[in-house]
Amino acid sequence: MRYVRMPIEVESPEEYGYARIRFNLSESSVADQSLADLGLTIPTDVPLLYGEHRGRQRLRDLIAAEGPGLTAADVLITTGAAGALFIIATSLLGPRDHLVVVRPNYATNLETPRAIGCPTTHIDLAFEDGFRIDLAKVAAALTPATKIISVTNPHNPTGVMLTAAELHALSDLAAGHGCRLLVDETYRDLSYDGPLPLAASLGAHVISVSSLSKAYGVPGIRIGWLISKDPALQEIFLAASEQIGICGSVMDEWMAEQVMERRAAILGPRLTEMRRRLKLVGDWMAGEDRLEWVKPSGGVVCFPRMTAEPKGGTEGFYRRLLEDHGAYVGPGHWFERPDSSFRLGYGWPTSADLEAGLAAISAALRGG
Ligand SMILES: Cc1ncc(COP(=O)(O)O)c(C=O)c1O
Repeated sequence: MRYVRMPIEVESPEEYGYARIRFNLSESSVADQSLADLGLTIPTDVPLLYGEHRGRQRLRDLIAAEGPGLTAADVLITTGAAGALFIIATSLLGPRDHLVVVRPNYATNLETPRAIGCPTTHIDLAFEDGFRIDLAKVAAALTPATKIISVTNPHNPTGVMLTAAELHALSDLAAGHGCRLLVDETYRDLSYDGPLPLAASLGAHVISVSSLSKAYGVPGIRIGWLISKDPALQEIFLAASEQIGICGSVMDEWMAEQVMERRAAILGPRLTEMRRRLKLVGDWMAGEDRLEWVKPSGGVVCFPRMTAEPKGGTEGFYRRLLEDHGAYVGPGHWFERPDSSFRLGYGWPTSADLEAGLAAISAALRGG
């Protein structure tokens, strides 16, 4: 493995310092929740033992209940979705294998295979195509060595979603080729027209990844999971997980279970609020001629593109935005894309801060 720190992590708000940012539009989650927000009090009698290696049974039951035909045995609890992606990549990919992965993407989906030295074909999503995946390009990219087709749905950083037909077509493509389809579904609970089927329920060759970080706003408990109906593969993933950390944190898993028990109560109002915010961003975009976008249908981010060079170039824009206005967004290079596009997160700040941040973007685009 050749580890290189990713720009999205080096320049992340938590590394830069939350206190130095007034209007944080760089996040990809809803607002971070506290235990009090969630109505949780930590009990003092949770035994601090090694937990079940696959993760707490009840937590896995709650996760499996989301997909028809899935059981707790198909679920492995991991250190965030990031941990799941790491386990999958290191278990299935090597320098003699081949990966097909969409780009832009959440950086780990690109970087861990790179650290492994796995030959990769990137399926570049284009603004002009509405950031939709060209399935013919995916099919053409497959080689006898291809082990994984990797997609993210809803997508980060664009918020674009696959249709059910596209998801099934990708699943069929992977099955026909004898490789795996990896679907990073970390934003699935934030699907505005309803979620697609949980991908792992489509067949034993499909692997789903998700977490509590984004829709539930609890990234600090580092709870994610992978789902696979292939018992032999699950055994390999479990071996990886045991070698990394034996088991997860029993306190984190206890909290995660409480969150999942309250799932419907948490998600209902949240989806309503995020739809409202998406409309707010849409209204702003409609009046902002220096930007164009592909309207998202999931997640809490979008990936607008500048229509003209701002004063001082993109560097000048990002500097003014942060230093003069205290506003922060995710520049294109976080996603291996030009800085003329940026990720705008509308779920994390307060509504008032979101509006102030949007106004700051408009001002900074004009050199103000
Ligand atoms: C698509 C996607 N997958 C995985 C992750 C990792 O999230 P976590 O490890 O907090 O669950 C992120 C975080 O931004 C993401 O956007």
